[in-house]
Amino acid sequence: MNRIIYLNGKFCCETDAKISIFDRSFLFSDSVYEVTTVLDGKMIDFDNHMKRLDRSMSELKFSKMLDHELIKKFHKDLIAKNNLKEGIIYLHVSRGVADRSFNFPPKETNLTVAAFTQEKNLIENKESKNGISIMTLEDKRWKRCDIKTTQLLYPSFAKAEAYEKGFDDAWMLRDGYVSEGTSNNAWIIKSGKILTRQADDLILNGITRQSVINCAKILGYNISYKGFTLTDAISADEAFITSATTFVTPVVNINGKKISTGKPGEFTGKLRKEYIKNSLKTAI
Ligand code: PDD
Repeated sequence: MNRIIYLNGKFCCETDAKISIFDRSFLFSDSVYEVTTVLDGKMIDFDNHMKRLDRSMSELKFSKMLDHELIKKFHKDLIAKNNLKEGIIYLHVSRGVADRSFNFPPKETNLTVAAFTQEKNLIENKESKNGISIMTLEDKRWKRCDIKTTQLLYPSFAKAEAYEKGFDDAWMLRDGYVSEGTSNNAWIIKSGKILTRQADDLILNGITRQSVINCAKILGYNISYKGFTLTDAISADEAFITSATTFVTPVVNINGKKISTGKPGEFTGKLRKEYIKNSLKTAI
């Protein structure tokens, strides 16, 4: 790979990019991120990603904010420079470089801003066609999962554990309720009703989740913002995940137990189609 990446106002080859070992991101995971989908060379839901970025930065008391127009410009430049048709742009913002101290650095410290592209087949892939298998494990993350920080060791551990055991991904459980997936929101459909957990401090309020809620409304489906248990999930008619990289992807098996027939569900398929249609229509 020889991508052109963005770092602190400049573009360079990925192998030439350098970040200080004193960056707060390296020492404390003191950083936030966004992942924006690119379809047909255009960005999906860019403005909503920017709103969530602002929220993450202000919840963590970053002393500087970023201009959305500037971010839009370098995202578009990255798409053009890397000739990206389908995939993602990863954006990473850290509190900056300062000598190691648990206290926050002086307010004038510059943020570190980095971004890169990743090609990915997002529309056509085997996961969306065949569905994925999920295992469950305890949610051991901190209690501010609503902030999109780069503190991702536990979700990474959970995903690796799932792969090692032959599953495609993991859902995390807190007090018996499914909170979310390692890097996606969790949903089930039961007796004609779509269930997704209320967006509070214990899950990331996915941008895809919010768009899919709109799609479900367009399709005239009922949504209930309610937590569900593992037993609810296993006895559901359909289950699926949502995220910027999976859109709406069916879950067909949880902990080795088939969901309904063990095939991707009909409503899940319709939601995915509607989501992709709307996303392409509003992409910039
Ligand atoms: N992850 N929940 C968690 C814990 C996530 O990490 C993500 C996204 C989501 C879905 O959010 P969105 O719909 O805005 O993508 C929910 C991204 C894709 C990632 O870390 O790569």
